[in-house]
Amino acid sequence: MARTKERWGTRLGVILAVAGSAVGLGNFLRFPGTAAQNGGGTFMVPYFCALLLLGIPICWAEWTLGKRGGQLGYHSCPAILGQLGGSRIWRYLGVMGLLMPTIVYMYYVLVESWTLAYAGYYLFGRLDLGSDPSQYPARSSQFFTNLVGLDQDGFMLQGGLHPSVIFWMIAFGVNFCLIYRGISKGIEKFCNVAMPIMVLCAGAVLIRVLTLGTPDPAHPDQNVLNGLGFMWNPKPIGSAHSALSALADPKVWLAAAGQVFFTLSVGFGVIMNYASYLGPKDDVVLSSLTASATNEFFEVCLGGLITIPAAFIFLGAAGAVGGTFGLGFNTLPVVFAYMPAGRWFGFIWFTMLFLAAVTSSISLLQPVIAFLEEALGVGRRASVTILGLITALGCLFLIYFSKDLAALDTMDFWMAQLGIFILGTIEVVVLAWVFGARRAHWVACQGAELHPPSWVFTVLMRCITPLCLLTVFGAWCYLYAGDYLRSLARGGVPLAAVGIIATVLLFMLILVHLAGRRWDRADADRLPPSPPGPEDVG
Ligand code: TRP
Repeated sequence: MARTKERWGTRLGVILAVAGSAVGLGNFLRFPGTAAQNGGGTFMVPYFCALLLLGIPICWAEWTLGKRGGQLGYHSCPAILGQLGGSRIWRYLGVMGLLMPTIVYMYYVLVESWTLAYAGYYLFGRLDLGSDPSQYPARSSQFFTNLVGLDQDGFMLQGGLHPSVIFWMIAFGVNFCLIYRGISKGIEKFCNVAMPIMVLCAGAVLIRVLTLGTPDPAHPDQNVLNGLGFMWNPKPIGSAHSALSALADPKVWLAAAGQVFFTLSVGFGVIMNYASYLGPKDDVVLSSLTASATNEFFEVCLGGLITIPAAFIFLGAAGAVGGTFGLGFNTLPVVFAYMPAGRWFGFIWFTMLFLAAVTSSISLLQPVIAFLEEALGVGRRASVTILGLITALGCLFLIYFSKDLAALDTMDFWMAQLGIFILGTIEVVVLAWVFGARRAHWVACQGAELHPPSWVFTVLMRCITPLCLLTVFGAWCYLYAGDYLRSLARGGVPLAAVGIIATVLLFMLILVHLAGRRWDRADADRLPPSPPGPEDVG
C-alpha cells in the first residue's frame, strides 16, 4: 500500500491542524522576548510588513503546491516539487522539506518534554522556590539547570534514569502514538480538542495577569498598565533617542522576518504536506488566512499580553527581559512564585505550552512519514518505526550533549534560521517561475471562497516575495553568518551536531534518489505519452 488515500475530515479540522502547527512555543515565549528587545510597539511595523510580504505569500505558495501535489497523489516535499517543477533538480532540492522537519523535531520534542516536566512538577507541588523571594531567581535557574543539564554533558546517563529522560520518553511516545493513528483520526482529532483547551488555559492565565493590579505597594510603578506599556510602548533601542530608531535598524527587520517565518511554520515543508490531504474542491486561500489569523491571535493577543507584562509586574524592567528559554523557564516560574495561586496557574500555563508544542511537533513528523510511505512503499507501521529510530538517536545525542544547549542551538541555527530561507525560496521559485504564477493562481482559486486578484498574486509571488527573501537573506548573511561559522571552527559539540545534520541529509538524499526511480516508473505507467492531459491548465 504505497499510496494511502488519507483526507482531512472537515474544513475546520484542517484549519485547526495548520493553526496547531503554527501555534507553539514561538508564540508564547519567542515572540514576547523578541518584540520587547526590538523596540516594543515599533517592532510591530516590520513584523506586519514581513507578515504581509513574506509570511502570507509563502503560506499561499505552500498550500497551493500541497493541494496540487495531493491531486497528483503525492504528499511529500521532494515528490511534489519534483512533479510540479518538472525536473529532478527540484526533487533533490525538496529534500530540505524532509531534513528540516526531522532535525527540528529532534530538539523541539526535547523542549516540549521540558514543558511537560514543568507541568508535572507544578501539579504535584514539587516546583517550590521556597519562602524567601530574594532566593526565587537563583532557585528557579537552578531548577532549570538541573532539569536540562545546562552545566555538564552526559549527566542524564550517570546512574539511574534521570526524570527528564522519563518526561522525554512520554513526550516522544505521545507524538508517535498520534502520528500512528493517521491524519483524520490522529492529528485532526487531537488538534480539534487541544486548540480550544489552549484558548481556555491561555485565557485563564491572561485574566489572572490583567487583574493583578499593583501587587506590591512598595513598587507602585510595577502595575498592569505599566507592564503592558513596557511590552507595547514604542521604545528606542540601543543608545538611540527616537522611538522610531528601531525602524532604521536592519537587525530589527531581520528579527521580524525570522519571527514571522518561525511562528507561521512556513518554509519547512510542513504546510505543504498538510495541504496535500485536501480535496480538489477545498479552499486554500481563505483557509490559510484563517489559520494565520488564528496564529496571530495566539501570538499577539495572548502571548504578547501575558509573558512580559507578568514579568514586569513582579520583577520590574530589569527582570522582564530574556531570550526564549530564559523567559519561559527561568523568569516565569519566579513570576508564578509571587502570584497568588501561582502553583495552579503554573500548571495551567505549562500544560497549555505542552499542548501547543505537541500540535506543532506532530506536524513535523507527518511530512517525513508520508515520504517514507511514498518512497519505500511501506505501510504506516514501518515508516513510523524508521522515523522513530532516527529521531530517537538524534534526541539522545541532544540529551547527552546538554551543556549550554550548544548542540540544540547549532541545529536550530542551521535549520530554523538558515534552512527556512532556502526552502522558502525554492517553494516560491517553483510555484511562480516554474509551475507558473497564473496556473498557481488558478489552482489556488479552485473552490476558493476568497479570490485574490490575479495580478496581486502574480506580482507578489514573482517579484515582491522573492526580492524580500533575497534582501533578508543577504542582510542575514552579512550580519550573522560570519560569527557563527567562526564559532563552528572551534569544533566540538557544534561540529558534531552539524555532522548529524549531514548524515541525515545524506540518508534522505539516497532515499529520494531511490524513490525517484519508483515515481518515474509509476508515472510512465500512469500517464499517456501525449502531453496535454485534462488537468493541464492554459
Ligand atoms: N511555529 C512553531 C512555533 O511557533 C514552531 C515551528 C517552526 C514549527 N517551524 C515549524 C512547528 C514547523 C511545526 C512545524 O512554536
